[in-house]
Amino acid sequence: MSFNKKTIRDIDLKGRRVLLRADFNVPVDGGEITDDYRIKQALPTIRYILEQECSLVIISHLGRPKDSEDAAASLLPVSTRLAELLGKDVQFAADCIGDAAKTMCAALKPSGIILLENLRYHPEEEKNDEAFAKAIIEASGAEVFVQDGFGVVHRAHASTDAITKQHIPAVAGLLLEREVDTITKVMEDPKRPLVAIIGGAKVSDKIEILERLLEHADCVAVVGAMANTFLAVQGYAMGSSVLDEESEDIAEDILERAEAIEKKRPFRFIVPTDIVVSTDIEGTKSTRVIDLASHTLHDIESYPKVPPFTSYTVTKDEMALDIGPVSASRIAGAVDIASTVLWNGTCGVTETEGINGAPAPFSHATRMIVDAIVGTSNHHANRAFSLVGGGDTVGYVQSQGLTDDFDHVSTGGGASLELMSGKDLPGVRALNDMEK
Ligand code: 3PG
Repeated sequence: MSFNKKTIRDIDLKGRRVLLRADFNVPVDGGEITDDYRIKQALPTIRYILEQECSLVIISHLGRPKDSEDAAASLLPVSTRLAELLGKDVQFAADCIGDAAKTMCAALKPSGIILLENLRYHPEEEKNDEAFAKAIIEASGAEVFVQDGFGVVHRAHASTDAITKQHIPAVAGLLLEREVDTITKVMEDPKRPLVAIIGGAKVSDKIEILERLLEHADCVAVVGAMANTFLAVQGYAMGSSVLDEESEDIAEDILERAEAIEKKRPFRFIVPTDIVVSTDIEGTKSTRVIDLASHTLHDIESYPKVPPFTSYTVTKDEMALDIGPVSASRIAGAVDIASTVLWNGTCGVTETEGINGAPAPFSHATRMIVDAIVGTSNHHANRAFSLVGGGDTVGYVQSQGLTDDFDHVSTGGGASLELMSGKDLPGVRALNDMEK
């Protein structure tokens, strides 16, 4: 199914006042933006609009401020960064509604840009308040509304829903179109084989995605803390590992269904068979690789040396913090023959850093799989199309400086999960339909 909403390419924007809803919800630390990926991804839409000699008013939220006193949620640092990236002035208005914003917007020249202060300084934003939406339109003087904040279209808020009912065209930006098109294609009509690697803490957060993937992926691997619950259901003692006990029935059901599907068609459901455990998540204690099916190996840094002893269960005070090298290579092998890879959830606790310059102790499996996804570009003629979604996974990819190595790194956290799950996105539904 292709994107069926009008985009900025489908209407005449020439010289008009455009109101753009972006998702500039970026991490800010002491007034400094620590990750500008979302701002960069909005640039093609912004540049396209400016090329049409429009004047541009941009709105966004940042964080979840209680009220407008929460200065840490100001969008001011975003206007500075946006100006740097565009190489041109970006004005900033201290409120997104009211006379002061209206006066500033009215004075905007063609190709001028103004960013309005955080929408969520007004509680009406999250209440999808019609009057608030109207006030934004009035302040901006907008003749066209463009939705490009993919990360927030799973919310029915004033700037994603009510604003589209204000009697001006409401169309999609280029980022929104690309996100929806790419994710929908992978979930509905991927180039096969499709290999999906799904992690996260809770099975319950990923049930819908797993169910959809059982139906149409060629291989699904469960990794990360979520895999612990599947292992517990398979009867392994998991010590102090993070478990989603409430979802054990669901995990059991998924395992049964996966087994039935494996008998019906070429399909593989991979649950790890070895894991990396430690008594400490900070990486200060030694690690063990446990081959759940047979015996204990050694510290991960010593792999594949011969194991010194033979205990093969996770002890009470140990927890699984990564999947083991055997499982990781099994998944990497599947990735190697894939034509499409969907990756959502790291394999282990990738945030834990190595002590004294040692490699990050719970990142080995993730690294192996990442290498299989992107590292083959030079010698592998059939390098798979790679889609990365979900806030933490995207964070990992960015922290490793690998964003450009993947084909599509989604800007959406919750929004990309909901789209992958097949849920309707209110902020997309509300936009003008493409004429048939
Ligand atoms: C996100 O970061 O996922 C989006 O900007 C939405 O933010 P929210 O979860 O606070 O609504």
